[in-house]
Amino acid sequence: MSAFANERPIILTGDRTTGPLHLGHYAGSLKNRVALQHTHEQFLLLADTQALTDNAHDPAKVSRYVLEVAFDYLAVGIDPAVTTICVQSALPALAELTMLYMNFVTVARLERNPTIKTEIQLRGFGRDVPAGFLCYPVAQAADITAFKATRVPVGEDQAPLIEQTNEIVRRLNRQIGHVLLPEAQAMISTVGRLPGIDGKAKMSKSHGKAILLSASPDEISEAVRQMYTDPNHVRAADPGTVEGNVVFTYLDAFAEEPAVIDELKARYRRGGLGDSAVKRHLDEVLQALLAPIRERRARYAAEPGYVMDLLRQGTFKARERTQATLTEVRSGLEIFSL
Ligand code: TRP
Repeated sequence: MSAFANERPIILTGDRTTGPLHLGHYAGSLKNRVALQHTHEQFLLLADTQALTDNAHDPAKVSRYVLEVAFDYLAVGIDPAVTTICVQSALPALAELTMLYMNFVTVARLERNPTIKTEIQLRGFGRDVPAGFLCYPVAQAADITAFKATRVPVGEDQAPLIEQTNEIVRRLNRQIGHVLLPEAQAMISTVGRLPGIDGKAKMSKSHGKAILLSASPDEISEAVRQMYTDPNHVRAADPGTVEGNVVFTYLDAFAEEPAVIDELKARYRRGGLGDSAVKRHLDEVLQALLAPIRERRARYAAEPGYVMDLLRQGTFKARERTQATLTEVRSGLEIFSL
């Protein structure tokens, strides 16, 4: 480890453990994290407690995916020697900080949070929203500040949560009387949200429209075969549209040589390039990208004991970190101590 390790900006980000990670996660965040781990002190949180806020009816699923998501991280090249992977539910300081922070935010403010507002609508909760769900931005503020993270790589949809975190930070620092907690900056991925293979808004985890990081060669080919293109591009000779054409969206996201893709696009627009030829190209790109990921994943999945040990070590380190912050916050807030 470099002598300046402590001066690296601290990153905290994570994923709810509700399902397998897919190409959308890879393009939008995982690839970025693999690069950032060498220039930042990075913590990845397996957010099982947060996953419960809308999965309380299926806690077994949430637990099962803790290890599965860890396999996904390691498979894409997260290096446990430089990135700390930890389990949220095994970090009691996060729960305690959440409880304290809860007093520095109002229900009205939580209900106004655009992310929460949209998610409540999406899930049809109405007034019957679980209290834990309404309050998960407070818990996320606890996650971020417990590590004193100043950088939080997230998707665009999470930006309001970072804003809310910083409001809580300012309220707390004012109450405490000095700047104990740093404000955090969202690092919004420049790669837009990858659509599902049907071209619909989001690469959903659960509806078979996603290409999983663990997908077999046949599953990849089948997904590419089904992929939405330009419905008006019937014969190869016809001119076709590239915009909204999922095959090209994926090529833009994953192909290594933009010049080759530009050439393909030009030919497609002109007419004379069939869907099957473009799909063959994408199939090759995705097979090449996912083969090493799938192989690494299989090796880790064959050694769950080894990965459990990594999680124990990571969580142990995170526990020390988060407990230290909790101690400072308790003392700053003049919480009674025995
Ligand atoms: N809310 C994030 C998601 O749904 C997961 C998460 C939990 C998180 N705690 C975090 C992200 C802290 C960034 C920082 O994917």
